[in-house]
Amino acid sequence: MRYIKDYKTLLEGKRFLLRIDVNEPVDERGFPQDTFRIAKASQTINFLRQAGAKIVLIAHLGDPQKEGRAGLSLSLIIKKLAELGGFKINFIADDIAEVNPNISYDISDGEVICLENLRFDAKEEENSQEFAQTLAQFGDLYVSDAFSVMHRKHSSVDAITKILPSFGGLVLEQELAALDYILTNPNKPAVAIIGGAKISTKLPVIQVLESSFDYILVGGKIANEYIDEYKIAQSEKIILPVDFVEADRYDIGIETRELFAEYIAKASTIIWNGPMGWFEQKPYDEGTRAIAQAIAKNEESYSVIGGGETIDEVHNLHQESKIDFISTGGGAMLEYIAKQGQLPGIIALENNNLDI
Ligand code: 3PG
Repeated sequence: MRYIKDYKTLLEGKRFLLRIDVNEPVDERGFPQDTFRIAKASQTINFLRQAGAKIVLIAHLGDPQKEGRAGLSLSLIIKKLAELGGFKINFIADDIAEVNPNISYDISDGEVICLENLRFDAKEEENSQEFAQTLAQFGDLYVSDAFSVMHRKHSSVDAITKILPSFGGLVLEQELAALDYILTNPNKPAVAIIGGAKISTKLPVIQVLESSFDYILVGGKIANEYIDEYKIAQSEKIILPVDFVEADRYDIGIETRELFAEYIAKASTIIWNGPMGWFEQKPYDEGTRAIAQAIAKNEESYSVIGGGETIDEVHNLHQESKIDFISTGGGAMLEYIAKQGQLPGIIALENNNLDI
């Protein structure tokens, strides 16, 4: 994959279509309730600005085809991005197909404009070549910096790479470096903690991790499913909860927290995705908190975490600085592991060798 960081001297005056990920939880007006992804997005924007490029941002928010458009304009998110990044962004509120692409030629070097929510157009999620053509008119080159949609075959992720010379951005590069580092040759003992729901997405992850990790601690709803439905027994590598807080198993119990903390304390490499219990409902968040505390306490290890609730817990404890890498991808991080890097957005970038 070509990374844009390696092409700095060639970028001045070029029009860049930059796909970022700012898909944050928002209130009913579309005001962001978190800024983790927004703050990360300014890295590649600043890099391109300093190189004298003209920047056209594209991004999605929520699922407007299912939920309707209310509260899903990118406008307030982009205002926050400009505020945090310390630069101006000219937000174009029209539907993308209605915008005259010639505006991209009027951008001064180092300036930024942003188009409206990609998913307002149903064609985006259909990976439509026609919509990709519309997008491509806004740039000479394409940069993909939205790791969290790498598992989606959408126009702004896949089809666009068939038209414009394409590159990975700074955030994408960091994500892949951290995950590849942890997956290819993890320092031993390597411990994975997998929780949450949706066993169908977690089972393939656990299967892949079994080959390179020493222990996989399984908690959350999937642990219940492991025990009840899948009948996958405890093994040398798969460590299941030994107790729960209540008969209905809404959280891992005290003994399990201690047991898991012992494995975590000895680990040299740690990866964590998914809460240990019914995280939203107190006091069933305590098992998840115990895991976050145990990881933060092991300062010698290399640790990577991902997924909304997982990040929230570390954030609530103000322990972000103790984690080596916090991934912007939840579903994408899991699929990256399960498919060993072979995600549609990454394959698309790897296959793109169009001349600059
Ligand atoms: C995410 O929030 O994980 C990404 O932005 C992808 O969003 P999606 O699951 O709606 O495709």
